[in-house]
Amino acid sequence: MMDDIIPINHDPQIEEHNMIEVTFYDREQEIKEMMDILSMKPRLITFVYGPINSGKTELITHLIEELPDNYIIFYINLRGKFISNYDDFVRALFKLDREKKEYKEILKTISEVSLKSLKFTGIPITEGVLDLFFREKTYEDVFEFLEDYFTEIAKNKVPVLIVDELQKIGDVRINTHLIYELFNLFIRLTKELHLCHVFAVTSDSLFIKQVYSEAMLSGRCDYLLVDDFDYEQTMDFLDGYGWGEQEKTITWQSVGGKPVSLVKLVNAKVSGKNIEDVVGRMLTLRTGEIETMLKRVNELGGEIIIEDAKYRVSYEKLVEVLKSFAAYEEIGMNEVDEISKAFLVKNNVLFVDPLTKLIKPQSRLDLSAIREVVRGA
Ligand SMILES: Nc1ncnc2c1ncn2[C@@H]1O[C@H](COP(=O)(O)OP(=O)(O)O)[C@@H](O)[C@H]1O
Ligand SMILES: [Mg+2]
Repeated sequence: MMDDIIPINHDPQIEEHNMIEVTFYDREQEIKEMMDILSMKPRLITFVYGPINSGKTELITHLIEELPDNYIIFYINLRGKFISNYDDFVRALFKLDREKKEYKEILKTISEVSLKSLKFTGIPITEGVLDLFFREKTYEDVFEFLEDYFTEIAKNKVPVLIVDELQKIGDVRINTHLIYELFNLFIRLTKELHLCHVFAVTSDSLFIKQVYSEAMLSGRCDYLLVDDFDYEQTMDFLDGYGWGEQEKTITWQSVGGKPVSLVKLVNAKVSGKNIEDVVGRMLTLRTGEIETMLKRVNELGGEIIIEDAKYRVSYEKLVEVLKSFAAYEEIGMNEVDEISKAFLVKNNVLFVDPLTKLIKPQSRLDLSAIREVVRGA
């Protein structure tokens, strides 16, 4: 959905070959919340959400490594997967295990053997089952199969299903909305049968907003925000790499606590770069990207599709919305017109949090860049 959008924080001047290994930082609070959920019987679908590059996938990866062996993890990342029909969906979900003839054998291995590290990317099944899915082409069969699959595993272990970048299937429409059928399965697995923990991860705040207001999901979900590091965490993170006060201050002021940016800056410093210069370049680059986005709307016009209807994007209104960030770091979700909001969120400039009803830039770097842009507008 968002792959054609300007990459954030991209700086070609920092060479990849000098990269050092940055160790996983903090997230104690988020990990505790997830462990608390995992220690109880599955009850709700947990939506892990937050701005792009805030460290959601990293957190999940870390958590998976730490989980004791009574948990069986099925991690499915839809990133980079193009799902436009039933076959794509089946391919994204399952992983072929060529060694096994019967899927019951797979289930047996998974649930009985006390092997360490039962972590799967994709749900392992046999060629026979996969062929059947491709022949029958009904979601009902797939979802029924999954229910049986997790029921079998849950006899001995605790299955955990994690779907990363779930918004990728938010727009797929075959018969009915695929996403609704999937939510039905998730509700069966959690709220109704208490079989399997379900985590759905997404950076798409418009998608979360939709989920949040979806009647069928009301009272059936938990929400966990994974945000950029705050001021204290950012200072502490940079202290860990021996940074001086001035560099830390410049970094927080212009770039903020987005983990991916901090990793980049730590590496820039390791390779002897002047942090003030690098921060300045990052800001110039992002400012230029936002300016270009606005210039295009102004000169070429812009359109956006919201719930199947096409709307014209107004340059003046976009600038007006961005101007509200000159004085505030976040504003009320409903202070912004729906078209501008959808456009700026889709273009990864703004992030909406439906739980707090606040809207803010995707990062402090975006906040700084927006302020530069509106100063000249
Ligand atoms: N807790 C963390 N400690 C250190 N680096 C992190 C942490 N979280 C994220 N990062 C860095 O930021 C990058 C982007 O994080 P990622 O989890 O892919 O973001 P998201 O899934 O939220 O879009 C990671 O590849 C990693 O380099
Ligand atoms: Mg991710």
